[in-house]
Order: sequence, then C-alpha cells, then structure tokens
Amino acid sequence: MTALAVIGQRHPGFEPRVAVILGSGLGGLADHLAEAVTIPYEDLPGFPKPGVSGHGGRLVLARAGETPVALLDGRAHLYETGRADAMKVAVRTLAGLGCETLLLTNAAGGLDGDMEPGSVMVLTDHLNFTGQSPLFGEPGDDRFVDLVDAYDPALRQRLVELAGRIDLPLHQGVYAWFAGPQFETPAEVRAAGILGANAVGMSTVPEVILARHAGLRVAGLSIITNKAAGMSAFKLSHEQTKRNAALATDKVQQLLTAFLEGYGLEGYGP
Ligand code: HPA
Repeated sequence: MTALAVIGQRHPGFEPRVAVILGSGLGGLADHLAEAVTIPYEDLPGFPKPGVSGHGGRLVLARAGETPVALLDGRAHLYETGRADAMKVAVRTLAGLGCETLLLTNAAGGLDGDMEPGSVMVLTDHLNFTGQSPLFGEPGDDRFVDLVDAYDPALRQRLVELAGRIDLPLHQGVYAWFAGPQFETPAEVRAAGILGANAVGMSTVPEVILARHAGLRVAGLSIITNKAAGMSAFKLSHEQTKRNAALATDKVQQLLTAFLEGYGLEGYGP
C-alpha cells in the first residue's frame, strides 16, 4: 500500500493546502492545531525513519483556522542515509494529497554579523555544495527543474509582513547546503560567504528541489542557532543547535500559525 493510500484510509477526504516540514525543535507546532490526525512515519511506506535527536517522526493532518494543513514533524538528512532523495516519497505524497505550498524550516549557522543565535532568516535562494541531487536517476525531461524563484517571492513577502506584525525581525538570505554530519570548517564558511551564503545547514535543499519538481510553491525559514564555524568562540555541537533553536520557537510558531491561518484568505494563496 502507498503512503497516499494509508493517509486516505486514516483521514478520508482530507485535502491539505499547505504543508510544513518542521526542523529541529519546531515539532511542538503540531500540538497546537485543531482536529489533528497523527500518523507515525513508520506506518507510511517510503517515509523516513528519523534518527536525529530533536526530530520527530510523524505526519499531522490538522486545521490552522480554516486552512487544512499537513505537518511533517521530522525529516531525513543526506548524512543519515547517504541519499539525497530520502524525502522523495514524503514530498511527493504531500503533492499527491493536493498541497499547493510547502514551507520548510531548519536550523542553521549564521554568517552575517547581525545574526545572533535565535534570529530567523527567510530563504531567498540556495547554494548546493554537496554535489548531490534528489533527482539523480529521475527519468523524463521534467527532471531539468528551473530553480529561478524557487523560493516563491510572494510567499516570502508575506512572511516578511507577518513577521513585522509580531515584532520578529526577519533576516533574508541565501542558505548553503553542506552534507554534514560534521560541521563546516572555518575555511568552508569563509568560502561560502564569499560565494554569497548568509547561512549554512545540512537539510532543506533536496526537499526544495523535490517540491519544485512536483510543482509545489516553496518558502523556507532558518532558525539561526549559532554563528557559523570560525565566527565565534563557542564550540559547535548538536546540543547547542537544539538549545538555541528553542530561543526562536515561540516566535516561529506564531509566524507559522499566522501564515497557515491566513493562507488563501489574504491574497497570497494561489
Ligand atoms: N552548520 C550546519 N548546520 C547547522 C549549523 C551549522 O553551523 N547550525 C545548525 N545547523
């Protein structure tokens, strides 16, 4: 049975319009929404088996205000499986359910001087430093995905406006994808900065590529959990990532809730 069929059985007729992939420490959002139906990834063929602490492993189908939404609490990373397509079934299932938009969240290291831990950045573009693609082996001409405006300018603008309403200073910038699991070297961070990166991280980009291939509109948010390698005296660790992600959780949950509730009502839905 496919993941899509399992979801159809557990929540017949439910058609989410927006999906969110919740990065480190943001899984709590899924607990605040109405009419939630939760399906563990292990019941969904092809969904990842999250093995990173701080990441859950459940699909939550719910309502944010009037908007039917699908939340993915937990993701697989390239560094867990060596495969860039670990989220392929999950992203295609979201498209198959009828989602129009995918909002991706992650934790990242910041390069800009004014990005303190706990700040939030909306993604304007990305750099793929892994040499990997989730579309390796994909047949057909639609594998040649256009990534211009991959991060939808209208959705981005909307997030900026909503952040202003809740007094969240929202940075905008380019996210550079590194394979991990080791953190970057200071030299890699310097190189990424010269090439235009404002933040570095180990996720999100393959999901963006899969989502654009599937015809979804995309928006992305990074929680800056630390200054990138070589830019501060603090030692980098996953412990620090989890702790500092919590600094922004409340504001990001408010922002996501406002975005989901307003989706389609205020002119930024399709
Ligand atoms: N680098 C890569 N991934 C990250 C970082 C970082 O500095 N912080 C949180 N996730």
